[in-house]
Amino acid sequence: MSPFDLKAWMGGGSSPPEDDGRKFVRVGKVADLPPGAGKVVMVMGRDVGLFNCSGTFKAVENACPHNNRPIGTVEFDDEHVTCLWHGLRFTFDTGVCPEADHYRVHTYTVKVIDDEIWVSAFPDDPEGDA
Ligand code: FES
Repeated sequence: MSPFDLKAWMGGGSSPPEDDGRKFVRVGKVADLPPGAGKVVMVMGRDVGLFNCSGTFKAVENACPHNNRPIGTVEFDDEHVTCLWHGLRFTFDTGVCPEADHYRVHTYTVKVIDDEIWVSAFPDDPEGDA
């Protein structure tokens, strides 16, 4: 990838055909992330955890506010991802840790269009205290 290849850097493309005015980044195909699987994708230079929660895709920033380590994409259910390091959970819909609500991660909107997964280019709460 050339250092000037912005499209590749953004994850292979941006702005899906159905847009709500926000920018999105294509991060992969639905077939590559079956239910129960998670992986880290790069969105605008940030590591984002992408999860298939029983057929619904969720995404949160892969940076734990407890100790600024990767949360990981291994342990999760339909509502939370659990940090690999000390076990704090983060709610996909709000980013808030239910055990200690002063800890919070950024959340991202995920869309599926024509079997491709798109993640919002910027967090849903860019001004949030994540
Ligand atoms: S670094 Fe995530 S719970 Fe401690």
